Amino acid sequence: MNFAFPISFRKLVVRKLTPIFKDAVEIVQQIVVPPRGREVLIKNKFLGINASDINASAGRYFGDSLSLPFDIGFEGIGEIVAVGNKVSELKHGQQVMHMKFGAFSEYVYVPEEEVIPIASSDRSLLPLLVSGTTASLSLDKCGMILPGEKVLVTAAAGGAGHIAVQWAKNAGCHVIGTCSSQDKVKFLKSLGCDRPINYKEESLTNVLRTEYPDGINVIWESVGGEIFNTLFKHLAVKGRMIIIGAISQYSNETFGEDITKGLSTKLLLRSSTMSGFFLPHFTNDIPHYLSIMVRLLHEQNLKPHVDDGSSLGKPFTGLEDIIRAVEYLHSGKSKGKVVVSL
Ligand SMILES: NC(=O)c1ccc[n+]([C@@H]2O[C@H](COP(=O)([O-])OP(=O)(O)OC[C@H]3O[C@@H](n4cnc5c(N)ncnc54)[C@H](OP(=O)(O)O)[C@@H]3O)[C@@H](O)[C@H]2O)c1
Repeated sequence: MNFAFPISFRKLVVRKLTPIFKDAVEIVQQIVVPPRGREVLIKNKFLGINASDINASAGRYFGDSLSLPFDIGFEGIGEIVAVGNKVSELKHGQQVMHMKFGAFSEYVYVPEEEVIPIASSDRSLLPLLVSGTTASLSLDKCGMILPGEKVLVTAAAGGAGHIAVQWAKNAGCHVIGTCSSQDKVKFLKSLGCDRPINYKEESLTNVLRTEYPDGINVIWESVGGEIFNTLFKHLAVKGRMIIIGAISQYSNETFGEDITKGLSTKLLLRSSTMSGFFLPHFTNDIPHYLSIMVRLLHEQNLKPHVDDGSSLGKPFTGLEDIIRAVEYLHSGKSKGKVVVSL
């Protein structure tokens, strides 16, 4: 082993189940042991923040198998600092990305087959992981988007949304994106979004009724609540609505109780489809979609945007800033992918 181990490292754990992130987590020390078998030990340099970090802290992903305290965080970029004795392909010093649950940690143990080698630890690759694979896979597999179709992306300036906008544009679609500020409208235009809608200044219903009277072919819906209800009414004949999330509901204790009355008749009368999309069900497709996105990035046909919180006066740095970063994402002010440097 050619790595000088620290005796211990720090990580975030969930101590109490609640969507109020700051009340859920605390930093603890973990003793370092060498990675076993086919595991590698990664020193994280950048961590990705996701809307669902507060679903994880509320215990919504683990059913009855859950026991407190547990690790949290979905993704990171870093360097391999030690490998287990059965690791064949990966080496000490290799720069890598991972989507290991429990990523909010200075060091993380990851099975070799789940590690994605990269040329350098570039934080602009982080938006491609959870956000990018969710955006691209859901639009292809559930949305079945076709050139010329109208695709509406909610939270379009966000981590997953800004990749969804670009993926649909690359597929030759007409893209409509919802957002909450003029700054985000400008950002969406710079990504090629055909019709950004600032829903705080324009009525979503009026815009869709007057500018898209035949409805929207594919709706990428991640907000839930009233926005969901409004958009559902504008689904075109043979339209597809992809349910990606329901961020407007995540802070409520009643998450998951949204019921749409008369849904079957509404779908029937428009030959429309509504499908859920949950990334863990598509793990086999992730490497392929990541490789496409990396190629698009190199060809400059994909512009991942990183938001490190600098607009708040100080970029997010260190495990302590994860709480601030999660709160920033949920404030609705962030643009692109929220990232914390370690
Ligand atoms: N199904 C899956 O496997 C999967 C995987 C990854 C992400 N997701 C989902 O994708 C969505 C986006 O996630 P993300 O991590 O990329 O977050 P994000 O879009 O970077 O940030 C959240 C954005 O949501 C918008 N928003 C709308 N209503 C909101 C409300 N009531 N409170 C806070 N924000 C609100 C805000 O933008 P504007 O209001 O300006 O539009 C905000 O900037 C979430 O619903 C998430 O759960 C799902």
